[in-house]
Amino acid sequence: MRQKWWTFLLSGALVVGALSGCGGGSSGGGTSQPPSGGGGTEQPSGGQTAVDAEAIYQNTCSSCHGKDLSGGFGPDLRHIGAQLSKDEIVQIIEKGRGSMPAQQLNQDEAEAVATWLAEKK
Ligand code: HEC
Repeated sequence: MRQKWWTFLLSGALVVGALSGCGGGSSGGGTSQPPSGGGGTEQPSGGQTAVDAEAIYQNTCSSCHGKDLSGGFGPDLRHIGAQLSKDEIVQIIEKGRGSMPAQQLNQDEAEAVATWLAEKK
């Protein structure tokens, strides 16, 4: 009799232990990147690019650099054009730097965002 009671208590404790040991994992936020529809328009001659650089920034970069470019996890980019050229920014987007991971943008998108940022002086 005594033994049965023991085993019951023991297994009960094990179950409780297993349940509480399981930390509630938070499911990561759904950052949905829209598929990049390759717009067939060639770059118009008026300085404007075919892709919407600001929209790409908001989708891809603002989570770290802030919606208004003022920084957050990543540095302030409001005057980044004074420090980096367009080509340097493209490199950072494509390869990442320090704690910034490489960004999954196609060439057109990377160039557009970099051009837009390089104008921020
Ligand atoms: C996961 C967060 C994250 C995302 C997303 C991100 N960045 Fe960054 N970015 C960083 C961090 C952190 C740094 C600082 C890297 C370092 O030098 O250590 C940085 C640095 C930079 C720099 C250099 C800033 C300087 O002062 O030298 C540029 C330019 C830049 N990011 C542009 C972008 C662009 C454009 C995008 C979107 C295409 C983007 N970043 C997306 C985190 C991010």
